[in-house]
Amino acid sequence: MVERALRQVPFFSGLTPAEARKMLSISAVRRYPAGQLIFAKEDIGDNFFVVKSGRVKIFTSVGPEKKKTFAYLKKGDLFGEMSLLGGKVRSASALAADDSELFVISKKNFRRFILENPDFTLKLLHTLADRLNKANKEIESMLFHNILGRLAGAIIELSKDKHSAPVKVTIDQNELAQYLGTTRVPVCRAINTLKRSGVIDYRRGELMILNGARLRSIAGVAD
Ligand code: CMP
Repeated sequence: MVERALRQVPFFSGLTPAEARKMLSISAVRRYPAGQLIFAKEDIGDNFFVVKSGRVKIFTSVGPEKKKTFAYLKKGDLFGEMSLLGGKVRSASALAADDSELFVISKKNFRRFILENPDFTLKLLHTLADRLNKANKEIESMLFHNILGRLAGAIIELSKDKHSAPVKVTIDQNELAQYLGTTRVPVCRAINTLKRSGVIDYRRGELMILNGARLRSIAGVAD
């Protein structure tokens, strides 16, 4: 189990072998079927998680209608650290977007681990810095870009780890609207504009990037 996790989950290969082994020895594995809530915003934070397989959606909701997806996390991504480090309660909700397996570490073990394992702590800081950077870009995009630019930026973000040619992203219009923190109608209009100009194709929840350079230019992202 230890060797397989070290080989298969990129998160562990970024640690020293000794740290990875130590971390696995204090982890339990939990399985969540697609659609199951892992924890809700405002819950007391009690565990830290690393995605072993599947996909986890991090989101917030305001009232019954307004939802905003912050991120989709995949194999090797970590979450649940913020409430254990400071905030006490969960800053967002987490839900299994696909059938998922998670490594789970208790708050007590997590806090001890960050004090004793500097490579892990550096990796954690890296992740926090990346997320802050992404959040800053999103604030910029919300303030200064129209829906078309924001959709283009979201497509680029969602396709980051895809290596097929042409690049394909599986996501339905509701999920895209939640990712942008808006409703389906403006997203549908923006998709049609990108389709008409030959930048993307989108059919039955499958989005294909046809002109990456034009998409980056619409998103205001440097090549
Ligand atoms: P915590 O606040 O304990 O619970 C919710 C978790 O979602 C949080 O820790 C982070 O791990 C994660 N999270 C919060 N905001 C973001 C974001 N913008 N991008 C990715 N992950 C996030």
